[in-house]
Amino acid sequence: MDHSRVPVLEALQEFRRRGDVVFGPPGHKQGRGVDPRVADVVGIDVFRSDVLSLNGLDDRRQSQGVLSQAQDLMADAVGADQAFFSTCGSSLSVKTAMLAVAGPGEKLLLSRNAHKSVISAVVVNGVEPIWVHPKFDAERHLAHPPEPDDVRRRLQEHPDAKGMLLITPTDWGTCADIAGVARVCHEFDVPLIVDEAWGAHLPFHPGLPAWGMDAEADLVVTSVHKMGGAIEQSSVFHLQYDRVSPEALKQREDLLGTTSASSLVYATLDGWRRQMVEQGHDLLDTALRRAERIRRAAADLPGLAPMGQEVVDAGLAAAFDPLKIVIDVRGLGISGMQAAEWLRAERHVDVGGSDTCRISASVTHADDDETEKVLVEALHALVDAADSLERRPPVHLPAPSDLELEQAMLPREAFFAPVEHVPAERAAGRIAAELISPYPPGVPVVAPGEVITEEVVDYLRSGVEHGVLIPDAADPSVRTLRVVART
Ligand SMILES: Cc1ncc(COP(=O)(O)O)c(C=O)c1O
Repeated sequence: MDHSRVPVLEALQEFRRRGDVVFGPPGHKQGRGVDPRVADVVGIDVFRSDVLSLNGLDDRRQSQGVLSQAQDLMADAVGADQAFFSTCGSSLSVKTAMLAVAGPGEKLLLSRNAHKSVISAVVVNGVEPIWVHPKFDAERHLAHPPEPDDVRRRLQEHPDAKGMLLITPTDWGTCADIAGVARVCHEFDVPLIVDEAWGAHLPFHPGLPAWGMDAEADLVVTSVHKMGGAIEQSSVFHLQYDRVSPEALKQREDLLGTTSASSLVYATLDGWRRQMVEQGHDLLDTALRRAERIRRAAADLPGLAPMGQEVVDAGLAAAFDPLKIVIDVRGLGISGMQAAEWLRAERHVDVGGSDTCRISASVTHADDDETEKVLVEALHALVDAADSLERRPPVHLPAPSDLELEQAMLPREAFFAPVEHVPAERAAGRIAAELISPYPPGVPVVAPGEVITEEVVDYLRSGVEHGVLIPDAADPSVRTLRVVART
């Protein structure tokens, strides 16, 4: 295929050249009505390129096939049979992907280290989750994706399960053995969905972990805005084989998706694919070398322990994305959250993620010598300043096994059940009716239907005292918890 073509961008350019006068949305009419104070900040071109797909990028019948051509090019670029663009982020694509494989009341194997969008999908879709527990890494206090044997065991226990959803890479860059899990799923003739929100760059360099389509997954969801170059909310479904019907996927996407998809998302997805096909290898090569330099520089600093290839070991991760710079800061006597706050306040460096133990910084094709220098210098300064940072009350990290909560009710039933709010000290033993996800990374510690334990309450309460944010809890201070009412 001709990857120098960019059908969406070309259609947008043509639309702007023609100067169409539009009497439909968006009401700003390609910037004619925009308040100049808004345009001053976000740029007038954002509005000029904000058009509908129908009677905008393409005509009413979509006769030019603008979007379908761009999607075919994407599929070809990454080795998928088909690709579909989605404009509501992987949060929505994950829900659609799950719905395309298992309907209400049907069973789906789910890796429990899931992003909250997966657990939300369980509530919204009414699927029965069969949790596959991740590998808890006690030393790093980190959950790595489950292994093929874990999946096999659960499929043997639940032969009526409709498929499996695996999350890889994790927020911290550790990856699953996708090919191994796909093999197991296919032995049982069920599809493997991969939430590869963090993996949009993987197809474009052999030095990166295996990409879901190459590793024989059936359906892969990516967020191109995370490690790629499209704007926020840009997500792509990639499909191969015949275990997931493209028709079911499209129709179920239509149930959930917007009727006003953003042309900015489509255009930037299209442009990213061209850029990666033409220059991706070289750009990512440079990024990989840069990430290695940053990791080495961090390793030389006292108190910092960057995670590296050693995390790839039996019982831990199957692979590791070297573009994720994950640095354990416990040696400085502070938490990752404190480090992240200090770096933003004092050095204007915003790391992508932080938790009790570590910070993470994503290096992408967009970094350059300047950003590399800024990050390394900021890490030096953090180490120098660490002794002067306030010592906050410690977070009581539970033992890994304490994070595996008993599921007493289906998440959907618990979420929609009559509820009450109980003080934290009386919550142990009660069934949660809400998601409780420290953010970032947004992986729920408690899902609806799970039995709350003292250890988990202690973890959450001490976390909040320390500065962990829990935006999705009804009471973000976790002084009270929303639980299923006793009848
Ligand atoms: C593993 C995983 N899946 C899905 C999502 C949701 O992606 P988005 O932010 O594009 O909606 C995230 C976001 O952080 C994620 O980490």
